[in-house]
Amino acid sequence: MTTTQKVAFITGAGKGIGLETAKGLGKKGVHVVLGVRKQSQGKTALDILRSEGISADLLVFDLSKTEDHQKAYHYILQKFGKLDMLINNAAVWLESTSSSSSVSNNVASLDAKILKDTFAINFFGTVSLTQTLLPLVKKSPAGRIVNVSSVRGSLSLNATPGNAVYDGKVLAYDSSKAALNMFTTHLAYALRDTQVKVNSIHPGWVRSDMGGANANLDLQQGSETSIQYALLGDDGPTGGFYFKDEVLPW
Ligand SMILES: NC(=O)c1ccc[n+]([C@@H]2O[C@H](COP(=O)([O-])OP(=O)(O)OC[C@H]3O[C@@H](n4cnc5c(N)ncnc54)[C@H](OP(=O)(O)O)[C@@H]3O)[C@@H](O)[C@H]2O)c1
Repeated sequence: MTTTQKVAFITGAGKGIGLETAKGLGKKGVHVVLGVRKQSQGKTALDILRSEGISADLLVFDLSKTEDHQKAYHYILQKFGKLDMLINNAAVWLESTSSSSSVSNNVASLDAKILKDTFAINFFGTVSLTQTLLPLVKKSPAGRIVNVSSVRGSLSLNATPGNAVYDGKVLAYDSSKAALNMFTTHLAYALRDTQVKVNSIHPGWVRSDMGGANANLDLQQGSETSIQYALLGDDGPTGGFYFKDEVLPW
């Protein structure tokens, strides 16, 4: 049976920007399915949302496991019959926890395992999940896919002196987000004659476990761009890269 309520699946929704995005969409009347790796963290997140009157479900979900992609497909198909919004939010920044390479400008010394493990989640996992769920997004009258990227994935900013990205390069994370941006352009092209819109977004520099305590935006502010592009109207853009209304350079 297909529900008339809008349904969103958010990866990495147990904390940080993902949980805040779930809250924001939930408050707009969207039913949110939280994709969370750890059951206990997911249960806590679910309790918080439900205590605020938000309609939500928990799916224990690890982006690195293709069987979990299938599990998500069957769960959403059986329970809702379609998926209105896919928020590809989960990601890792393994360079920040690596002791074997300096955090910034690590191109000459980066451990190949960090590069592979980063791509496994931020790119391969995200592409594979999106391919698996795409038939459900196409069943929505207004499907939206939000790829949570980063200005760090911008080739232009990485190549242009005079901005923070230029002087703070981290190869694995930055290149995984550049690859994600490429996925956005290819998927938007493939879907150009459908009702599905797909965009990359940058959430800003946000005070989460990944962004750290010195970031200038709180979680609520950091969730605003994901929410904006998940709720795009039929006249909204597709195949772009945005922070709020600002068009970002690829
Ligand atoms: N914070 C910033 O300043 C900033 C800036 C630009 C872009 N971003 C992007 O914003 C998004 C959210 O980041 P955040 O700042 O909220 O970071 P975060 O607090 O570290 O959250 C990352 C989320 O991804 C999940 N995740 C990691 N690996 C996973 C896997 N294999 N399967 C499922 N979930 C997995 C984490 O789950 P666990 O709790 O299980 O690890 C966590 O929920 C990311 O795409 C990030 O690249 C953030």
